[in-house]
Amino acid sequence: MSGFDLSGKVAIVTGAQRGIGLGVATELARAGAQVVLTGIKDVDGYRAAANICEMGLAATYRRMDTSDESEVTHVIDDIFAEMGRLDIAVANAAIYPNTNIASITPDEWDSVMAVNLRGPFLLAKACLPYFQRQRHGRVVFLSSITGARVSSPGYSHYAASKAGILGFMRTAALEFAPWNVTLNAVEPGNILTEGVMEHQSQSFVDAQCAAVPLRRLGTPQDVAHAVRFLVSDEAAYITGQSIIVDGGQTLPEMSTAILPEAAR
Ligand SMILES: NC(=O)c1ccc[n+]([C@@H]2O[C@H](COP(=O)([O-])OP(=O)(O)OC[C@H]3O[C@@H](n4cnc5c(N)ncnc54)[C@H](O)[C@@H]3O)[C@@H](O)[C@H]2O)c1
Repeated sequence: MSGFDLSGKVAIVTGAQRGIGLGVATELARAGAQVVLTGIKDVDGYRAAANICEMGLAATYRRMDTSDESEVTHVIDDIFAEMGRLDIAVANAAIYPNTNIASITPDEWDSVMAVNLRGPFLLAKACLPYFQRQRHGRVVFLSSITGARVSSPGYSHYAASKAGILGFMRTAALEFAPWNVTLNAVEPGNILTEGVMEHQSQSFVDAQCAAVPLRRLGTPQDVAHAVRFLVSDEAAYITGQSIIVDGGQTLPEMSTAILPEAAR
C-alpha cells in the first residue's frame, strides 16, 4: 500500500500479538511508524514484535492489560519518556465469549466490559495529556458491525460493548478536538483470525463466506488498511466517524439466499 506515510510517528496497539492487532501493528510499522505492541500474552507478544523487526521495521513489545488503569498509565508514560512522543493509539484488544443472556453471569458481563469498553477509555484518557501537549494525536477504536449494525445470539455483552465504544468515540471526538486530536473507529465484519477460529466451526466460516457479497471473509490487513488511513495526515479532518470493513455483509436488504452466484 502506498501513501499514508507514518514516518517518524510513534504508535501503540493493544492486544497486538495476533489477529487484527498484529495486522494493524505490522501495517503501521510498514508505513514507517515505530510501533509498541502491547498485550497480556508476553511470549507471543515478544515474538510478534521480533517478527516485525525482522522485516526491517521498528517494533517493541510491552506487557499491558488494557483493563488495568495503572498498567495503561505506566506504559503510556514510559513510551513518552523513552521516545519523546506518541502520535497514534489503537484500541484493539477485546474478548468475545458466546453466551446466551440467560446464562451470562454479572461477572462475565463485567469482564467483557472491562476489556472492551473500560480498556479503550483508559487508553484514550492516558494518552490525552500527551496529545494535548503535542496538539496532535490520533486514536482508532476497533468496534464491530456486531452491536453497531447487526448481532447474533450469544453476543449481547460483546454487542453492547462494541456499540458503546462508538458512543464513547463520538463524545471523546468532541472533547479532544480543541487539541487537534481525532478519534475514529473501524467496524470489521467477519475477519478470519485465530480468535475467530477458536470460537467458530469451519461450517460457520463457510456460511459466513456465502453471506458476504464479496464472497470471502476479511483479513487483518483489510482492517489494517482502514486504520492506517484514519491515523494518517490525510485523514486530518475526519473525527468521530467509523468505517465499516465487511465486504458488503451488512448491505443486503433481503435474505442472503438471493445474492447472485459467485463469479467463476
Ligand atoms: N475477527 C473478527 O471477525 C472481528 C470482527 C469485528 C470486530 N473485531 C474486533 O477486532 C479486534 C481484534 O479481534 P481479533 O479477532 O483479532 O481477536 P483476537 O482474539 O485474535 O485478538 C484479541 C487480542 O486481545 C488480547 N487481549 C484480550 N484481553 C486483553 C487484555 N485484558 N489486555 C490486553 N490484551 C488483551 C488477546 O490476547 C488478543 O491478542 C477486537 O476488538 C474485536 O472485537 C474482530
